[in-house]
Amino acid sequence: MYSPRNVPLLTYVRHVLVARLALMATVIALTLATLAYLAEERMLEEAVVAEAQEDLAELVERTRAIVSHDGLKPLDAFRLAVGEKIAANARKSRRGKVVYARFFKPGISGAEEYLDQTFVLHEAVRAHAHAGKSPEPNAGAWSETVFIADILCVHAILPIDEFGRSDTGQVEIIFVPAPSVLAAMERKAFYTVGAVAFVALATAALLYPVILRLTNRLVAFSRNLQAANFETLALLGCAVAKRDSDTDEHNYRVTLYALRMAEALGLDAAGMRALAKGAFLHDVGKIAIRDSILLKPGKLTEDEYEIMKTHVRHGLEVVARSTWLRDAKDVVGCHHEKFNGKGYPNGISGKDIPLTARIFTVADVFDALTSRRSYKNALSCAEALDILMRGRGKHFDPKIVDTFATMAAPLHERYAHRSGRDLSAELIDVAWKYFHVGTDTLVS
Ligand SMILES: [Fe+2]
Repeated sequence: MYSPRNVPLLTYVRHVLVARLALMATVIALTLATLAYLAEERMLEEAVVAEAQEDLAELVERTRAIVSHDGLKPLDAFRLAVGEKIAANARKSRRGKVVYARFFKPGISGAEEYLDQTFVLHEAVRAHAHAGKSPEPNAGAWSETVFIADILCVHAILPIDEFGRSDTGQVEIIFVPAPSVLAAMERKAFYTVGAVAFVALATAALLYPVILRLTNRLVAFSRNLQAANFETLALLGCAVAKRDSDTDEHNYRVTLYALRMAEALGLDAAGMRALAKGAFLHDVGKIAIRDSILLKPGKLTEDEYEIMKTHVRHGLEVVARSTWLRDAKDVVGCHHEKFNGKGYPNGISGKDIPLTARIFTVADVFDALTSRRSYKNALSCAEALDILMRGRGKHFDPKIVDTFATMAAPLHERYAHRSGRDLSAELIDVAWKYFHVGTDTLVS
């Protein structure tokens, strides 16, 4: 029975799960903390604007008083009232203070400007105010929070509702919050991060075992499914081997040689799976060849050989019936093609022959040469390699033969005399990691 061994799949799942949950907790905490900070900013801005509007209402009252007592024109009286308030720094509040004010009057060019010279960044504040466009008449209240020289400020333009008229002017102010207000905002954001991170991590910790258990079940199910497919694959290959009196060992060895060669050539996981399936099933079409030809001890006649060649077509028909086996078609359909185009069934040559088939062909011929048959003895590794090298560029892809020549001796030493059981175990170790890739991607 096939079963996965030495595969750290669950470790991988745990790592991915922990990383994802921690990432999720961090993202949620930072997102909510940012939203909380922005909400605090907005609340500060609204409070400053409301306070400024109250102050402006007081200024209008003060203007009325100056007009009635001193007889000044309303505009001059208003300027005087604003000047008094700013100069006396009367607008200090617990939240901070207005460090800049500019008064605009429709129909009058220029503006009255008041700047708190005691504020260290007053020049930067004035530069910021001048960099913006002048307020539009009757545009209504407008405000935003801005950073001036890295200090959070509230910048607002407010209409002055003088004597019930809406077009009497506007005041632009820049408000600097008190350090204690900024510190409170940052503290609140920090606490929010902590609280949200705690809740998110606690939730993740509660979810972790549930998700892990479900994932484990899913992975186990996928593994069983893959193992069953893998087992069926070996079963089919074995059935074909039994049919023409060959042994299981040939299928295992040729698949191992081919996979080791493909690893050295850098084949990707999908190619490795296709190669393994194709190697197991390369002669599956022989099921359809009648015994009188398949088991004929002597040389086949020309007609018999033509019938024998149809095992490729029969093999393609077999693997085409299974979605899971369909990628074996390159090896099944092209394992008798030759690099110089003199093979069958299509006589294709060079790189028109799929890479998996070119790799398999080298492995297949090498194992046939180094295996004992009823009609021949096994050749040594060196003798077999010599034959392969003579077929370089004719039967075989030169690059693949050259690669195999560098690794054939230790592989032959390792596999040539092993039992079918040992070879089967090793093949599972080699091939399984390419077959369980699909279960990894379930959680990546
Ligand atoms: Fe064949």
